Amino acid sequence: MKTIVTTAYRPNGKTDRLAAQAATDLSIPFVLRKKRSIEKIHAEECADVLVAAKGRLEFYPLGKTEPFFFHPNSAAFRTKRPIEEDPLIAVSNLEAGEVFFDCTLGMASDAIVAAYRVGSKGEVIGCESHPVLAYVIEQGLGQYDAMPHLDEAMKRIRVVSKNAVDVLKSLPDNAVDVVYMDPMFTEEITEASNFTPLRGTANNSQLTGEWVKEAVRAARKSVVLKAHFRSVDFEKYGFVRRVRPNTKFHYGFIDCRQQ
Ligand SMILES: C[S@@+](CC[C@H](N)C(=O)[O-])C[C@H]1O[C@@H](n2cnc3c(N)ncnc32)[C@H](O)[C@@H]1O
Repeated sequence: MKTIVTTAYRPNGKTDRLAAQAATDLSIPFVLRKKRSIEKIHAEECADVLVAAKGRLEFYPLGKTEPFFFHPNSAAFRTKRPIEEDPLIAVSNLEAGEVFFDCTLGMASDAIVAAYRVGSKGEVIGCESHPVLAYVIEQGLGQYDAMPHLDEAMKRIRVVSKNAVDVLKSLPDNAVDVVYMDPMFTEEITEASNFTPLRGTANNSQLTGEWVKEAVRAARKSVVLKAHFRSVDFEKYGFVRRVRPNTKFHYGFIDCRQQ
């Protein structure tokens, strides 16, 4: 799908510069806003629309009127609780100073929690195959300043705008400590509403044997999968499922030290 970039409804020097930068970075056309609504631009350009708004980038996939923009989401409250009790940290056994490879960056909430856990000596790499999404998140992680306790963690995440399976294949054996996968759920769940504008736009691909094999090869410690509680992928690909009563999603792990 083609993407164009425009400015806020009432542009100023800052939104003009932000839009011009995005056009260059993503090699996409810049289109004048001319006080048009998003719906009108969608209809006239037949394209997804990236908006350089005041202080942030907003992404409106064609036909959607709710924007996708960067926000720490669940990372905001998860990092205020004891971090070792966070379900992702507990299941992956991620520790300070380690390297966390997130195959499915999305909104980066899980990556922020991991970056907070690994601390200044650790590393977080986040793959996102949708280039515009990856750009919105990368810019947001670099600029967001409303939560000082997450500042360093956000800046620690290295966004890679590529398919994770290709990136995993390029890594040597045991290159990272933990590999994490959180593919799009095949059934919509109400808690995931911040992802609603991206349904039908984000990469919908599901786990494959090749993906799991490359993850196990690249991970020294564990491979973690998050999926809908009805998903059979845990059993299909050899993950030990951690049942979380009364939640819509479960985590599963493969202990790579026992492989
Ligand atoms: C459910 S979301 C992940 C949410 C994320 N864990 C978070 O905390 O916000 C899945 C994301 O992974 C991306 N994705 C799916 N398969 C991918 C792949 N093979 N490589 C890179 N990105 C992928 C999708 O485009 C989508 O943005």
